[in-house]
Amino acid sequence: MPDKNPNAISGFYDGIFHCYDAANVFLTLGLDGRWRRKAALLALASKPEHILDVCCGTGSLSIELNRLSMGRASITSLDFNEAMLSKARAKTSAVSFIRGEADALPFPDGTFDALTLSFAARNLNDGGAGLKKYFNEFHRVLRPGGVFVNLETSRPGNRLIRSLFHAYVRLATVPVRFLSPTHRAAYDFLAGTIADFYPPEELSAIILEAGFSKVEAHTLMFGAIAIHSAIK
Ligand SMILES: C[S@@+](CC[C@H](N)C(=O)[O-])C[C@H]1O[C@@H](n2cnc3c(N)ncnc32)[C@H](O)[C@@H]1O
Repeated sequence: MPDKNPNAISGFYDGIFHCYDAANVFLTLGLDGRWRRKAALLALASKPEHILDVCCGTGSLSIELNRLSMGRASITSLDFNEAMLSKARAKTSAVSFIRGEADALPFPDGTFDALTLSFAARNLNDGGAGLKKYFNEFHRVLRPGGVFVNLETSRPGNRLIRSLFHAYVRLATVPVRFLSPTHRAAYDFLAGTIADFYPPEELSAIILEAGFSKVEAHTLMFGAIAIHSAIK
């Protein structure tokens, strides 16, 4: 099973980049597009001119940001995995896709008006302190008043819903594991990080510790998904 070491995580995406978008649609029953739209609208609410989409993967959220801003915002998107970036670049030339590390962003302080992260906080999480290190870096590259939006799976407060959600994740990954046996460990990793991740209030506390204020958590799907927004 891949561990939380960045090289292992990047290697994991080398193995699944070609089917990443299709697996997302399958595992979320096609709802991921709606969640990204909500996250993008939150990021765009203050009409940002310069947006950074960190851990952009194959560019789904970056492209939604570009579409909803009608090309008015300049969007820079960063990921450390070249295979995921190559899929993203093949989709659009309207976004600038660059390779980089989320804990050492190659931008001066205060460069961006908004910063987004979708379905990647679980990748960056090696305990609250680890995640805070990344959030500190996001805080650094935002201008004062800039907005941070994080879309991620969450932990439903209701025990029954939580059990059903985790059972769904285990069940939904079965056909994917079957169709793609070489990537079984990757999907086990995915299921494991979902069950381990923070409930919305704990993630809010980590975002606050990283220096942000006005943290709000918007939960969807009975708490299985959370979109956090916060201000620098
Ligand atoms: C689950 S994918 C999410 C992609 C995209 N944001 C989405 O919503 O579909 C996580 C992405 O984070 C990237 N990633 C993980 N750790 C990273 C790090 N430390 N620095 C940069 N990118 C990272 C991976 O390469 C992968 O493309």
